[in-house]
Amino acid sequence: MELIKNLQWRYATKKFDTTKKVSANDLEKLKEAIQLSVSSYGLQLYKVLIIEDPELRKQLKPVSWDQSQITDASHLFVFCHYTDATPEAIDEFIIQTAETRNLDVKRLSGYGDFIKSKLAEKSTEDKTGWLKSQTYLALGNLLNACAELKIDACPMEGFEVDSYNEILNLEAEGLSASVIAPIGYRHPEDHTIGMPKVRKSLEKLFSEV
Ligand SMILES: Cc1cc2nc3c(=O)[nH]c(=O)nc-3n(C[C@H](O)[C@H](O)[C@H](O)COP(=O)(O)O)c2cc1C
Repeated sequence: MELIKNLQWRYATKKFDTTKKVSANDLEKLKEAIQLSVSSYGLQLYKVLIIEDPELRKQLKPVSWDQSQITDASHLFVFCHYTDATPEAIDEFIIQTAETRNLDVKRLSGYGDFIKSKLAEKSTEDKTGWLKSQTYLALGNLLNACAELKIDACPMEGFEVDSYNEILNLEAEGLSASVIAPIGYRHPEDHTIGMPKVRKSLEKLFSEV
């Protein structure tokens, strides 16, 4: 299975080669892999910023635990979740579904109301956790797509959310940074290249009944 080989190839890259850039063609493929990600109800309540600007990344590095991947990678993906699931966002999804599948929007309004009622049951804290969790599914697809294209990446939570929100002016768009991923090409001197993977045994990880 190619996917397993790709997953064995990839690793959380610590040192990127600053001279290598991901091509525009590959970037489009990565965007499509994220676009096709699953999400709860299909709502996709997030946005992904792709940052190439070196000046902006220089600003982000000190609020990213000073991790060198921020500035050295080819591009920095910032997954941002909407801070609320508004009725308008649900309506927009219902309208798009009707248009895409050539259905009468009135036939879908019950489904829209169902989603709204389910979300209304969640506390603010639960809703934030739920909104944030959707971005991790997209992150997973990005990592797998990168591995297939032999592009290196490093998933990262080591950054200050509030500082990202401020520097990237995310609040104005109703967004908050969730998780990030610099992508590019490994530097041959990355001391973590080829380190054996540390993973729980299948026996510990699974329980079959
Ligand atoms: C949500 C998340 C956050 C992470 N944050 C960081 C980070 O800030 N910096 C870093 O170097 N690696 C980070 N990692 C990488 C993990 O340490 C790494 O994926 C894990 O140790 C498994 O190793 P592998 O990815 O090389 O197989 C993060 C991984 C995930 C999934």
